[in-house]
Amino acid sequence: MKGVVLAGGNGTRLQPLTLVGSKQLAPVYDKPMIYYPLSMLMLAGIDDVLIIARPTEIDLFRKLFGDGNRLGMRIDYAVQEQPRGIADAFRVGADHIKGEECALILGDNLFHGAKLPTMLRKAARDLRGCVLFGHQVAEPQHFGVAEIDAKGQLISIEEKPEHPRSNLAIPGLYFFDHTVNDIARNLQPSARGELEITDVLTSYLAEGRADLVWLGRGVTWLDTGTHESLLDAGRFVRDMQHHQGMSIGCVEEIAMLMDFISAEECYELGAAMDTSPYGQYVMATAREYRLNPGFANFLED
Ligand code: DAU
Repeated sequence: MKGVVLAGGNGTRLQPLTLVGSKQLAPVYDKPMIYYPLSMLMLAGIDDVLIIARPTEIDLFRKLFGDGNRLGMRIDYAVQEQPRGIADAFRVGADHIKGEECALILGDNLFHGAKLPTMLRKAARDLRGCVLFGHQVAEPQHFGVAEIDAKGQLISIEEKPEHPRSNLAIPGLYFFDHTVNDIARNLQPSARGELEITDVLTSYLAEGRADLVWLGRGVTWLDTGTHESLLDAGRFVRDMQHHQGMSIGCVEEIAMLMDFISAEECYELGAAMDTSPYGQYVMATAREYRLNPGFANFLED
């Protein structure tokens, strides 16, 4: 399965932070924002990823991850000239996806929860059309919204409805089968002029091929699109890491746990940053894993 991180857009709600830089490279506590969504794709078992960004920033992402080899991955890059909508990712990324299954994640979405690795791998494994997720929120009108019937079956999907039919927001993480490129090719821009991801999801739903997975109580989902939510996300990561003693979105550690790289290779990546607490964490976690490979058992639950 291929992975796509959509990391373009103008980030206008975060100005002036985004006047000369990418929102998805802004710090969320100790790492660039994009580490969090990238690590979600890695936890789903995806080691072949396309990062889509604006022309002005694509080289910064390239500088950050290179060809992905140091993480035992393949990472490619593509430019989105204009923010034409989230579903434009399938057009920009068509050569990369090449009619295969793919997971799309928005570069400003951050997830955390013990059950996530299992949920993600299950979504990728049992795919029979598309998988979207649902998360209860207080103000669903700001998001894609899923409506379910009394049996919990998905019945409608709407983008930022004025009068939401439920409080179940659809986070920016989706799994699609090999037909997604064909569906995206035939999309028309919405009234606000964007190629809407909700229209792609609705096409699958109309064919009875859209599965909704409720993220539930144990999963935290944070969108980092405003100054307040960006600060909240940073505080959340800081507090969780501090109390649990484990890093969130540490791509080197996840590459090791997923067997993309060895513990020795992970250690070396940490050692290259050994003056920072992050680098020291990577070295310590690699050392721990070498002594006790059962450390990765969390991936099995
Ligand atoms: O965060 C989840 C929500 O994300 C979903 O519930 C909505 O259905 C979905 O439309 C989206 O809503 P947003 O209002 O957050 O979308 P926004 O335009 O802010 O774009 C989300 C991210 O995608 C942002 O980091 C910028 C990037 N993006 C967006 C567009 C429209 C691109 O890279 N290119 C684009 O053309």
